[in-house]
Amino acid sequence: MQKTSDILWQDTQHQVLFTLIERIKEVPFDPDILLQLKLYAEHHFIIEETYMDALGYPHRDEHIEAHDRFREELAAMLDTDPSMHHALQISLSDFLYKWLKLHVLGIDKRLEEYVLNSSLK
Ligand SMILES: [Fe+2]
Ligand SMILES: [Fe+2]
Repeated sequence: MQKTSDILWQDTQHQVLFTLIERIKEVPFDPDILLQLKLYAEHHFIIEETYMDALGYPHRDEHIEAHDRFREELAAMLDTDPSMHHALQISLSDFLYKWLKLHVLGIDKRLEEYVLNSSLK
């Protein structure tokens, strides 16, 4: 994935998320991959949300709602067994990849700019 942020921790974590999402397609399917993704995504979202709270970020609620939708999608996926069909692995991975790409190049960029213009950068 292209660089997503001028904030090092944010870009590094996004790259890890994209790598984990790509791994959902791997054959044989790693039964731990969705849980790893869930844990890492939670770690990343909490850091962003901590910055939003600390800075009184004006778009906080909207951004957290977006994170919450991703959390819900992942929780639902954890109840599936994608190893039964490779096409399902591909569709889950593609769905998450597109969602994340849209998120990091959209709503996250607004947060990045706000953090970079703050005293907490
Ligand atoms: Fe992010
Ligand atoms: Fe975000």
